Amino acid sequence: MSHTVAGRDTKPDITVPAMSEGDAKATLTMRVTAIRYAASEISVYELRRLDNARLPAVEPGAHIDLHLPGGIVRQYSLVTSGVDLSAYLIAIKRERASRGGSSFMHDKLRVGQLLEIGGPRNSFPLVESAPHTVLIAGGIGVTAIWAMAQRLERLGRSFEMHYACRERADAAFLDDIERLAHTRIHVDADCSGQPLDVRAIVANAPSNAHFYCCGPLPMLDAFEAATSSLPVEQVHVEYFAPKQMAAIDGGYVVQLQRTGQEFAVPQGRTILQVLREAGVSAPYSCEEGICGACQVNVISGVPDHRDSVLSASEQQQGKTMMICCSGSRTERLVIDF
Ligand code: FES
Repeated sequence: MSHTVAGRDTKPDITVPAMSEGDAKATLTMRVTAIRYAASEISVYELRRLDNARLPAVEPGAHIDLHLPGGIVRQYSLVTSGVDLSAYLIAIKRERASRGGSSFMHDKLRVGQLLEIGGPRNSFPLVESAPHTVLIAGGIGVTAIWAMAQRLERLGRSFEMHYACRERADAAFLDDIERLAHTRIHVDADCSGQPLDVRAIVANAPSNAHFYCCGPLPMLDAFEAATSSLPVEQVHVEYFAPKQMAAIDGGYVVQLQRTGQEFAVPQGRTILQVLREAGVSAPYSCEEGICGACQVNVISGVPDHRDSVLSASEQQQGKTMMICCSGSRTERLVIDF
């Protein structure tokens, strides 16, 4: 998922709960009970508890952390959205530039093996009471969006879903998605390579609709541009790749309010890296500013925000920050830790 927003409020309604260390570290052992082909380079993984007990409830847009060998932790959106809590389903695309997560899942993982998971957590919640909902997905971004569409369909809410793919062979869940009346598939290859016209979709939707988008960066850029004049509470976006580089200029001191400890953050290091290297146990997961696991409150100082979780206004207020990627604009930063 793995799920940066600059210049405006794009996630105004998203409040990522601050996690305690215990929450961040809590994991559940799951068995891989099925691996199914979903589309070219995309497989669906079914995960169940060892005792087959019911799983924690999930909302559309939620994700889990997969703890993989080598200390790799990756976030993947759940395809399921609360109806069947006997299993979690995640869809994973093999990334050409895999840093180990998707290549392990595709090449090494087998049915029957055990996996530790964390969560579920939801930093991309669905406003179910919206008068109309416009869902826009591109590529593997369809997982969270498809979960939302299924939920809205069950609730009988007014919605439309647009799913863009390069070719039909690249599209996961295509048969199921096409069965719903309110879905539109856009295949670039069938349109002379033209991408989905996000601007037209937004322009043609009711002005009081809520808009959601998850997909590749060009689609998210188009979405942000198309929705820039809308009230911030109607616009929801999820990134699954970092949009900005982490702040690693260093040259400041981070102070932990609760213990009084101080650490100099040198060039080339993030706050999280400095704390971990000093033996301070801090919660984290993606280390890319997209999951919200490392969020801490700011007591004083001005953060240099680089995350994809906080809205522009939350970043401007500077009361909270993600220490895996954000730095400091002031010589001293005191965090509630
Ligand atoms: S660890 Fe995911 S946002 Fe920092």
